[in-house]
Amino acid sequence: MWQTGKGTCAEYVCAGENNFLPKPANLTLEQAAAVPTSALTALRGLRDAGKVQPGQKVLINGASGGVGTFAVQIAKVFGAEVTGVCSTRNVDMVRSIGADHVIDYIQEDFTQSGQRYDLILDQVANHSLSGCRRVLTPQGTHIPNSGNSGTGYVVKALVVSLFVRQQGRPYIAIPNNEDLVVLKELIEAGKVTPVIDRTYPLHETPEAFRYLDKGHARGKVVIILEHNNKT
Ligand SMILES: NC(=O)c1ccc[n+]([C@@H]2O[C@H](COP(=O)([O-])OP(=O)(O)OC[C@H]3O[C@@H](n4cnc5c(N)ncnc54)[C@H](OP(=O)(O)O)[C@@H]3O)[C@@H](O)[C@H]2O)c1
Repeated sequence: MWQTGKGTCAEYVCAGENNFLPKPANLTLEQAAAVPTSALTALRGLRDAGKVQPGQKVLINGASGGVGTFAVQIAKVFGAEVTGVCSTRNVDMVRSIGADHVIDYIQEDFTQSGQRYDLILDQVANHSLSGCRRVLTPQGTHIPNSGNSGTGYVVKALVVSLFVRQQGRPYIAIPNNEDLVVLKELIEAGKVTPVIDRTYPLHETPEAFRYLDKGHARGKVVIILEHNNKT
């Protein structure tokens, strides 16, 4: 079963039945556990905050991470031409999940590329807001979505978005069952598949978070229960 709401790492969970729905039939428990927060974030960022349209050029900065690997696949579902930004070691993986173009950030700075994008979903926030807007089309939108960017960056993005049409606001993807159903259908149709980097047993949760904190996860990190092999 999938649960909506705030996440935690525990052996048991207690919640109202409205907060659950069946997991996608074609996923293991481990794969299903990787979906809700990151895939919902990608869906909301592209569809709601970014209002992505078929044929648009979409750039995903941080394309190889937990949210980014879903964002690449979901942007393709919406009919976008997708460019993913990641490091050298992840170029092939990002291409394999559907990116039309991949920029290796070690070799190339996408804000200096001269390309123009209709939408940038930014998981990393390692460039200035104005640098990102520089590579947008006149009607394009930059959606900053990094919790690591610091309060100053978020506040600046919020303030600039009041005056500059190209600057989208940071958003919070609050889980709900309707969007999980959308994702379940995409997954069961084979259009979206979770990318799992590593699994850790529950007692190694601190180690899992230490790994995540390094900022180079390749897809999702999943905590599994040792005793009954459930996630
Ligand atoms: N708005 C919301 O509701 C919401 C919800 C969930 C998460 N978030 C935010 O979304 C952000 C991304 O989360 P996540 O789970 O995807 O993080 P993550 O899995 O830790 O992302 C790690 C990825 O970032 C890539 N990366 C690191 N430096 C980069 C650079 N300079 N340029 C491009 N890519 C780079 C890494 O690729 P390499 O290894 O190739 O460097 C790695 O694959 C977080 O800041 C989080 O706070 C927002």
